[in-house]
Formats: sequence, C-alpha cells, structure tokens
Amino acid sequence: MSSTALTVEEVPVGVVLPLRSAVLRGGGPAGMAGDDDPATVHLAARTPDGAVVGVVRLAPAPCPWHAARAPWQLRGMATDPAARGTGAGRALVDAGLALVAARGGDLVWCDAREVAVGFYERTGFTVVTGPYDKPGIGPHLGMLVELPGR
Ligand SMILES: CC(C)(COP(=O)(O)OP(=O)(O)OC[C@H]1O[C@@H](n2cnc3c(N)ncnc32)[C@H](O)[C@@H]1OP(=O)(O)O)[C@@H](O)C(=O)NCCC(=O)NCCS
Repeated sequence: MSSTALTVEEVPVGVVLPLRSAVLRGGGPAGMAGDDDPATVHLAARTPDGAVVGVVRLAPAPCPWHAARAPWQLRGMATDPAARGTGAGRALVDAGLALVAARGGDLVWCDAREVAVGFYERTGFTVVTGPYDKPGIGPHLGMLVELPGR
C-alpha cells in the first residue's frame, strides 16, 4: 500500500472507535471524555477502498508543561498493525497539525507511549519530560510541537 493512496478526513467519533479500541484498549471500551465536544476533531486515514487504517483525535486542552496561547492535545493515535510503516500515522499527524493551525492553535502536545516516542519525533514532536507512568498502560513521555504563528 502506498502512503500516497491514503486520504485523511474529519469523521464522526463512531468511525474512529473500532480501531482505537482494537489498538489502544485491547478491544475494550474506547470512548474518552470530550469525544463529543463540538471543538474535538476526529480524523481517519482510509485506503482507496474505504478501509480505516488509522485514527487520531485532537482537542483544545491546556498543556501541562509549556505556556501557549491556544494549546491542543493529540490523543487516541492508532494505526492498523497491517498498515504500519506505510505512512498512515504521519499522514494523520500532518493533517492534524495543519487543522489545528487553521483553527488558531499554536501548540500540540501528547502523552506519548514510550514505544511511540520515535514515531512522534519523526513527525515533528520533541520530548519535554522524563518518563511517567500511566496506570494500566505503562511508561509515557510528554511531547509537544509548536506551530508557526499565523
Ligand atoms: C505509533 C503508530 C501510530 C505509528 O503509525 P505508523 O502508521 O506505523 O507510522 P508511519 O508509517 O506514518 O511512520 C512515520 C515515521 O515514523 C517511524 N515510526 C513509526 N513507528 C515508530 C516507532 N514506534 N518508533 C520509531 N519510529 C517509528 C516510521 O519508520 C516512519 O519513519 P520515516 O520518517 O523514516 O519514514 C503505530 O505504530 C501504532 O498505532 N502503534 C500502537 C498504538 C500506539 O502506540 N499509539 C500511540 C499512543 S501515544
């Protein structure tokens, strides 16, 4: 599968929940507080046949580590294991950062699972904390990317 064949679009939360559940919640309930807030954005990456191979959520939220005028949080980042390494994750982050910038955001932050830190670094984020534990999930690091002003 070529990454150039992927499309990324804003979708209702119901579209992202199956992959979020399978990849991030072991098949369990995957809803998160704020999923239905009007400002929350859900993105899905699809192959030409319409299959959802990646999902992510972006929502305005104060950054715990860095002052910003209009910070947003990235959460629920997940790609189909069969599609890993084909650019779905990057396509989602690129689209997400562009969307946040277009909506006036100036910073995007995330609690990055330790195993995903390299991915976020490849897509423009910087580690800004030491490791911390999220009970039931494991070690995370705080990461962020500042967006160019408008
Ligand atoms: C992390 C994840 C979203 C990456 O998705 P992906 O579709 O494989 O990412 P891409 O194919 O777009 O990769 C983009 C770049 O990051 C690199 N990369 C991907 N996963 C990586 C990882 N875990 N560590 C280091 N680099 C990684 C790729 O090699 C690629 O590098 P390049 O710039 O040289 O081409 C995916 O592996 C996943 O869903 N993991 C399980 C859930 C998870 O940990 N989510 C994050 C929660 S914080």
